[in-house]
Amino acid sequence: MSTWANLGLQDSASPLMEQLIFFHDHALLILVMITVLVGYLMFMLFFNSYINRFLLHGQLIEMIWTILPAIILLFIALPSLRLLYLLDEINEPSVTLKSIGHQWYWSYEYSDFNNIEFDSYMIPTNEISNDGFRLLDVDNRMVLPMNSQIRVLVTAADVIHSWTIPALGVKVDGTPGRLNQTNFFLNRPGLFYGQCSEICGANHSFMPIVIESVPVNYFIKWISKNLNS
Ligand code: CUA
Repeated sequence: MSTWANLGLQDSASPLMEQLIFFHDHALLILVMITVLVGYLMFMLFFNSYINRFLLHGQLIEMIWTILPAIILLFIALPSLRLLYLLDEINEPSVTLKSIGHQWYWSYEYSDFNNIEFDSYMIPTNEISNDGFRLLDVDNRMVLPMNSQIRVLVTAADVIHSWTIPALGVKVDGTPGRLNQTNFFLNRPGLFYGQCSEICGANHSFMPIVIESVPVNYFIKWISKNLNS
């Protein structure tokens, strides 16, 4: 539940999340069909009296109800595998962002632009503005250009954290001593919120992630402003 009464996934803001939602709907449809069929069969067992005293084995039906579920599983496994490789694919990123998890905040580095770096802390409840999101807004957002491939390198300084943004379909662990990689493409401008999703300690809930997706020329303005300061 990303907001009140929201049962499904967030609307996608990247092609990868769009594919993830398609796969979720596909798997859910298969799940519902199986549940309805098995539920119906089990329910109907209570209301019949079919008895066959000489029935000891049935090779044919055993064959059918072994192979049929295996084929159904293939219809989930193959699209799942396709998605897995799609998520891993890197397409000549135009911006690389480095994201470091700390207890309990994220810090970001724009390695392509003279290594601009800053920390990103959650805004405490008593300081939040009326239009802000409690426990979700940060003091320094990372600004990224939309309509371009973005690569994110994720690591951590103390314990394992996880850099997760549902609307972009991105979730990577930040592990001390390791550098993980992910990438995404921002479809539209806006603010995209995420949270750490490894249980990293007492204030795990209070290290949110905010991406400010802007057109490329605004991004260049933002970058040059920060380069000069
Ligand atoms: Cu950092 Cu949970």
